[in-house]
Amino acid sequence: MCGIVGYVGPREAAGVLVEGLSRLEYRGYDSAGLAVAHRRKVTVRRTAGRVDDLRELLGDSPPRGTTGIAHTRWATHGEPTGTNAHPHTDASGRIAVVHNGIIENADVLRAELTARGVRLASDTDTEVLPHLIAEALDGGAGSPAEAVRAALSRVEGTYGLAVLDARTPGELVVARNGSPIVLGVGDGEMVVASDLAAVVRHTRQVVFLDDGELVTVRADGIEGSARITPTTVDVEGADYALGGHPDFLAKEIADQPDAVRRALAGRLDTRFSTTRLGGLELDPRDLRGVRRVLFLGCGSAYYAGEIGAGLVEELARIPAGAEPAGEFRYRNPVVDPDCLYVAVSQSGETADTLAAVQELRRKGGRVIGAVNVIGSAIARECGSGVFLHSGPEVSVASTKAVTNMTVSFAMLAVLLGRVRDLSVADGRRMLDGLQALPRHIDAVLESDAAIGEVAKRYADASSMFFVGRTRFSPVAREGAQKLKEISYVHAEAYPASELKHGPLALVDPAMPSVVLVPDDELLAKTVGTIEQIRARGGPVIAVTDAELPDGLADAVLRVPRTEPELAPALFGVPLQLFARHVAVALGRDVDRPRNLAKSVTVE
Ligand code: F6R
Repeated sequence: MCGIVGYVGPREAAGVLVEGLSRLEYRGYDSAGLAVAHRRKVTVRRTAGRVDDLRELLGDSPPRGTTGIAHTRWATHGEPTGTNAHPHTDASGRIAVVHNGIIENADVLRAELTARGVRLASDTDTEVLPHLIAEALDGGAGSPAEAVRAALSRVEGTYGLAVLDARTPGELVVARNGSPIVLGVGDGEMVVASDLAAVVRHTRQVVFLDDGELVTVRADGIEGSARITPTTVDVEGADYALGGHPDFLAKEIADQPDAVRRALAGRLDTRFSTTRLGGLELDPRDLRGVRRVLFLGCGSAYYAGEIGAGLVEELARIPAGAEPAGEFRYRNPVVDPDCLYVAVSQSGETADTLAAVQELRRKGGRVIGAVNVIGSAIARECGSGVFLHSGPEVSVASTKAVTNMTVSFAMLAVLLGRVRDLSVADGRRMLDGLQALPRHIDAVLESDAAIGEVAKRYADASSMFFVGRTRFSPVAREGAQKLKEISYVHAEAYPASELKHGPLALVDPAMPSVVLVPDDELLAKTVGTIEQIRARGGPVIAVTDAELPDGLADAVLRVPRTEPELAPALFGVPLQLFARHVAVALGRDVDRPRNLAKSVTVE
């Protein structure tokens, strides 16, 4: 959740580090700091606040030196103050450390260090590391890497970290266990980061560290256990720039037609009316052997999994479900050898989802990934799956990745269906529907201004309902989630059939309901739900592809007609726009909602 940047090379490090931090700010943002080595001395600068505050602190005289580390922090242990900001150092100031993750036995280690006379300056778990590393060096460790390894052998928990030693200024020691680290291999320089965003401006040649790896990084190479051959990533600096949009959320919502095209590219087999998902590594016999499908993810990825389960049941007629990954991992699940487990994650780094995958693999379950970030921990742990290809998401709220999850699950459902009873005609219908989806999303995006007007009318509501049924029940959950997280307006989602069993008691003129009204076999019943809400004075915003009677709803957000099975992908888009406009009307920072971070690599 926090961000790490490191640099070794010919350039002054401070500028590269601060620029890198600003690319990572979306991950965590309550304090920032850097450390630079020069003439066998480490200089540290830290501050509470954002990267701009650090920039201001450095002013015209940033510390000199061509090797350095930097960090943006999202507080877990200790308040977001300058003292708790990273880098942390040992008592002599020789060793500086930046760390993502959580050291679970920090209390024990702090007590031990204190008993040995070490004075700890911060409340953080991280601060134990520089002291332990310095102790290991004093105790005879032959190199900084050896000292870091010795220190880490005392640590329980997760880390991605970078260590700077004043006495070896041309190198950094970098290690990973449960928190991502990527090494950017430039021309005579190296950039270390927790996220590609800080690397791709300098190079697209990268090495992803695996859990348990520890390496020494120098300007001309990497020494240690990592696979040294870099891979080229298909991500560019422009992916992390606003490109004329007011915020990344707006940019990523608008990017969806292209993102869907990327997800579909090369995967639609019109000859056999099926899909090609080679990354699954499942042949037709394997596909036929699947008797159940369970999607596992967190938050929006879990809701997308619910949509996926609906698609698989409908198109392949295989029982399917979805479960929050963080619950699955702890409930000692029965792992069914005939079940296909699908780990769903935009970042590929979510700790709960990764742990669920590890639990499944330990028990011999067959698990594939539906992941956006190539090279991420979940993608590598699964080994096979379907990449989402939505492009990098910078805004904390997930939008284009969620849409691409649904699109990918539709392709998976067609594939599973076509080795069973899904007809050629229905397969073909789904492929046509998928191909038309980008165009339909474009049409929704064109109504952005109209959706903005509706959102403004209801932005002062203190709570809203989101209502949808069957296929649209998870869409309603996702709509409520988007509204909550970026606007801080309370929202709850209910299947329409459940309203009358309790929640209807809350409906009054101050409680708007966003009702999803697809033109499907339940249309008359959904219209009945709207009438029930309005009879209690509740305002209704209908999202629909049907022709509704005039005056049925207080506001109507129109969606083009698509194949009914694919409509959930489309109905999600106006809900994203609605949530963003409410948030903007309320003056929220839509890209960086309070209390949240982009990838949740801690429990
Ligand atoms: C909501 C949101 C979160 C994530 C969840 C899982 O907009 O972004 O609910 O969906 O934290 O993250 P990933 O998909 O990275 O595993």
